[in-house]
Amino acid sequence: MSDSKLLTSSLIVLCAAFFGAESSGFARTSEVGWKASSELVDSLSKQSAETNYREQKVPKYALPDPLVASDGKKVTDAAAWQAERRAQVLDLFRTHLYGRAPVGRPKNMTFEQFDFERNVLGGSAIRKQVSVSFTGKKDAPAMDILIYLPNTGSKPVATFVLLNFGGNHTINADPAIKLSTSWMRPGRGGSVNNLATEQSRGSSSSSYPLASILKRGYGLATIYYGDIDPDFHDGFKNGVHPLFDKLRNGERQGDAWGSIGAWAWGLSRAMDYFETDADIDQARISVLGHSRLGKTALWAGAQDERFAFVISNNSGCGGAALSRRRFGETVGRINTSFPHWFCENFKKFNDNEDDLPVDQHMLISLMAPRPVYVTSADKDLWADPRGEFLACKHAGPVYRLLGIDGLGTGRMPALDKPIKKGTIGYHVRSGGHGLTEYDWQNFMDFADKHFALRGRK
Ligand code: GCU
Repeated sequence: MSDSKLLTSSLIVLCAAFFGAESSGFARTSEVGWKASSELVDSLSKQSAETNYREQKVPKYALPDPLVASDGKKVTDAAAWQAERRAQVLDLFRTHLYGRAPVGRPKNMTFEQFDFERNVLGGSAIRKQVSVSFTGKKDAPAMDILIYLPNTGSKPVATFVLLNFGGNHTINADPAIKLSTSWMRPGRGGSVNNLATEQSRGSSSSSYPLASILKRGYGLATIYYGDIDPDFHDGFKNGVHPLFDKLRNGERQGDAWGSIGAWAWGLSRAMDYFETDADIDQARISVLGHSRLGKTALWAGAQDERFAFVISNNSGCGGAALSRRRFGETVGRINTSFPHWFCENFKKFNDNEDDLPVDQHMLISLMAPRPVYVTSADKDLWADPRGEFLACKHAGPVYRLLGIDGLGTGRMPALDKPIKKGTIGYHVRSGGHGLTEYDWQNFMDFADKHFALRGRK
């Protein structure tokens, strides 16, 4: 390379570094690294004229500062964040996005282990199935937790917990997994008349690479999300809502919990169970979720600090992606397509994102100082990969206030080049919307690193 070319390329790097290092609340779009393919942008834009897939059409926006308290005062030390500001931010998300769920463990909740096998999956695992009855009453809503733990190595085991879309029986072909009897969305769990069928056993196993998880010494626990609340809008008459809803004058309030709130609450009830199971390491539970269940995992992790590591896979709008970018799925769009996911108050921000007192970087900041990992997929522009990355980046100041690094870089990485050096991990992987073995391997790398760093492994 000639000297002049070398000089020019160094200048470009310097400029990129300068613009990548943000100091104000105004987001810039000059990150280098991954970029959406222009063919994909063109073709998606043609399919849906009202959806923005073009970076240059992202409006200018100013993000709310997680470190400015409600009274306008700057939060300048870790103690003030932990004692006051964190609770304020959590409350803003409860009031405006996900709604308020009942607090704590229900008084009469019971756990019943209805299956225990010591040598399953070719001798590599222990299997347990546990039924959680939310009210302890017969025939009341209950959820089944399916658990696999490695058969070798020491106990208790660090375990990943995640909700699944099609019933526990879809995550592996193991014929002893109880076939779900809960309501299924059409197209899920091999459903016929909204009920699961035998043919769907193991149909989602590629998203649950059990052999690899067990081999790396981790356990896996999963629950069908429809056990907690069936995923359709029925005015909150089914699932756990009617058991615990607090009505005022017979009416649900604007901040009453939606379905994401209920699913996240269910994850905390699973955590209640883990605390009673001596084989599971309650200090090393990672909560994970894909897509709508990634939004749910983030909300569960934000509220329940018993989760030691929080993972969002392709969660997009209402999950890890910044709402103010209005790229791909928007607040208005999600509230119209899925009116039951968030609380009623969230609808005030349809086409009105700038009035939101929070944005999703603040949700990620609620995980601090715990590790959090966010993924995007190259072709999943609906979920706004860059918006997911930027939310991670702008959660950084809270991590730094607590004395640790967030992402440890301000730059969008290249495709398939995970960022794993700090306490916030991120990658954008090749391919489309989905939970893959590649994603899992990165989650396990991050868990290995952080759990070991804390001297727990
Ligand atoms: C839809 C929805 C997304 C959601 C996804 C999923 O695409 O618009 O917000 O994440 O479904 O859960 O699969």
